Amino acid sequence: MDGRTRTPVIIDTDPGVDDTLAILFAIASPELEIIAYIVSFGNTDVHAAYDNIYRLYQAIGRHIALHPEDAARFPNFSPTVPPLLAVGPEGPLEGGRHFAQYFHGRDGLSNISERHPDLNVDLENSSFCDNFQPVKESGVEVALRLLESRPDRSITYVVLGPMTNLAQLVREHRQTVVDKIGRVICMAGALDVPGNTTSVAEFNVYADPYAARELLIPTDITSGLPLDRVIIAPLDITSNHELPFPHYCQKVDPAFKSTAQPSNADGKSPLVHFTSSVFERTREIMLEWGKDAMELHDIVAIWCAIENPPEINPVRGLPGMSTGWVVAQRTFDIERTGEITRGMFVTDRREETTTYAPGANRAEVQAQLDLRHLGHGLLESTALPARVNIEDPTLLAGGQGEVGLEQKERKGVACLVETPGPSVLLQLLTRRVWGIQ
Ligand SMILES: *[C@@H]1O[C@H](CO)[C@@H](O)[C@H](O)[C@H]1NC(C)=O
Ligand SMILES: *[C@@H]1O[C@H](CO)[C@@H](O)[C@H](O)[C@H]1NC(C)=O
Ligand SMILES: *[C@@H]1O[C@H](CO)[C@@H](O)[C@H](O)[C@H]1NC(C)=O
Repeated sequence: MDGRTRTPVIIDTDPGVDDTLAILFAIASPELEIIAYIVSFGNTDVHAAYDNIYRLYQAIGRHIALHPEDAARFPNFSPTVPPLLAVGPEGPLEGGRHFAQYFHGRDGLSNISERHPDLNVDLENSSFCDNFQPVKESGVEVALRLLESRPDRSITYVVLGPMTNLAQLVREHRQTVVDKIGRVICMAGALDVPGNTTSVAEFNVYADPYAARELLIPTDITSGLPLDRVIIAPLDITSNHELPFPHYCQKVDPAFKSTAQPSNADGKSPLVHFTSSVFERTREIMLEWGKDAMELHDIVAIWCAIENPPEINPVRGLPGMSTGWVVAQRTFDIERTGEITRGMFVTDRREETTTYAPGANRAEVQAQLDLRHLGHGLLESTALPARVNIEDPTLLAGGQGEVGLEQKERKGVACLVETPGPSVLLQLLTRRVWGIQ
């Protein structure tokens, strides 16, 4: 650990197949000190997602009971400093509730509750529960308490699901967040690639586009997240980080097949039985979609948290990153109510740098100008936006919000565009989670 202190992390999650692997990775990472899980709706409903934390901890507990020599591999599985476990939001800030059970199963873990009842939580044998601490407080209360009790800017808040809990926290306690939060890392969105829920939307943003927009697209300096400390990991970068299932067979579980030949607990370690039981259905779905691999979306976000702790002396502007990690500042808007584009990151690809603000709806600007009697006809008004910008940049900011020329000043969001590479992650993940060199 080269003397560095562990980064305290709050994991806001909706487990979920890849969330579950991401959490395993976090538990197996000595750079992190998991201080809380805030469980959200998302991949499945909040209660099923909550149960999956128990399932996961039970699997590690059984594993360590049989293989005590592996205990050191899971520095975050320890009764001495158990992370808090809180129930977060059951649905989005606004709009309908959507799950991704088509991919994750009703229980969120590929229907293992039906296929592998041996992995259901056995509360008779529940010593694994000493390793986390369920609390009655809400997700917002837990996050607030932790931010207040820790040194300023020490905590990394990682969002692996919809951003609803964080948006509620910012609504209610924005100043505390601005003063105290060290870093925010969200697996969210799709910029220049297709979505994974609709043709244009990534699931987490689709599930609560209101929360994502409130946090990432501040309307003025008193709203949104402190963007100098925010990193998002969109599908653009996460999708090419994969766990190829042939690699999993070769390195971890040679008996790994499909739901036709479900994982058998005999002869494998409890942890391998658990992950194989979850992945056997994921593999079938991914094969239907054309690849024999699982995409490591949430795992990339955790990896980013491992390697990029909050900065001690941040410089204003883009967050500083460790070697091998690159972010690019991107400006976009987020569709909340689109008929077919809900949750889309809308990028202004027009090569326009002079007259209109990025993202401006030119017809709407025209209408606003006409409304204020600034235009005197079609020809003249075409040149107006630039003049208005110089004379009074706030003129168009009211009402609509989206139209305002103030958007020209918008800072944008740091989006992850480079990591040390998929093969580095695959090796690290395999070593940490399953103990294989
Ligand atoms: C989960 O089980 C239900 C009902 O048994 C089934 O309809 C659904 O397709 C299954 N989902 C997955 C992801 O396997
Ligand atoms: C439950 O605990 C008993 C002993 O208390 C043990 O023999 C048994 O193997 C445990 N069951 C599981 C599934 O871990
Ligand atoms: C879509 O992306 C999210 C990233 O958070 C991931 O949890 C989910 O499994 C992905 N869904 C599919 C169908 O790939």
